[in-house]
Amino acid sequence: MNIIKLNAIDSTNVYLKDLSGNFLIDNYTVVVADTQNKGRGQRGASWVSESGKNLTFSVFCRFLNEDKMNLFLINAIVALSIVEVLENVCDSFFSIKWPNDILSENKKIGGILIENIFKSTNEIYSIIGIGLNVNQNNFQGLDKASSLSLLENKVFDKDVLLEMIVLNLKRNIENKENEHYFWDQYHKYLFKKGIPSVFSEPGSEKFMGIIQGVTKEGKLILTKENEMNYEFDLKEVAFHY
Ligand code: BTN
Repeated sequence: MNIIKLNAIDSTNVYLKDLSGNFLIDNYTVVVADTQNKGRGQRGASWVSESGKNLTFSVFCRFLNEDKMNLFLINAIVALSIVEVLENVCDSFFSIKWPNDILSENKKIGGILIENIFKSTNEIYSIIGIGLNVNQNNFQGLDKASSLSLLENKVFDKDVLLEMIVLNLKRNIENKENEHYFWDQYHKYLFKKGIPSVFSEPGSEKFMGIIQGVTKEGKLILTKENEMNYEFDLKEVAFHY
């Protein structure tokens, strides 16, 4: 495993994107940083993580001729790979909140930001960014965040965890043709699937919906009170949980 360890960087995703643009790097090259000064999150948000306490890392993965429609499968596999490791090393239960937040109960433990670069050679360079709250114990002002250490009441070895996650991710991506298996597992862990929950569309009132699942393209399928199914993209719906 090629690991580049940095003390501090703006964002491991940006660093790895630049690196892969300038050099031919191996698949599963990892960049991990103790501190990110400009950590990036989903929907243009930032990812804030206490220095040295957590895992903030990015993994490089090159795909050839990957059907663009199939890219959400990679998201699902990444989330699943993390949950599988966490369930191995923790007593707590974990779930995946659409599209790919890692939760325990209703607290966020980890987030994933995958940035894809489409090359003229039909290759896709995927920069798989993972932020996992490991040993941070104070989340003042962030009442929906927690960490493995708070859940399990112990301190985790971040290096061991990192290696377990990357190896599991590699194994799963190498088996990605077992699409049905990964798809079933993703839905098995899907947060609040089948349970009435509150959602809202931008600029509209809250409504009750029931998560039925996620389409192959990564859209959330919700049944509304009129018993019809609707599909939503990431920016089209907010989940109030
Ligand atoms: C989210 O919003 O839930 C996604 C968070 C992803 C954060 C990780 S930390 C390592 C990598 N580098 C970044 O700048 N972001 C991702």
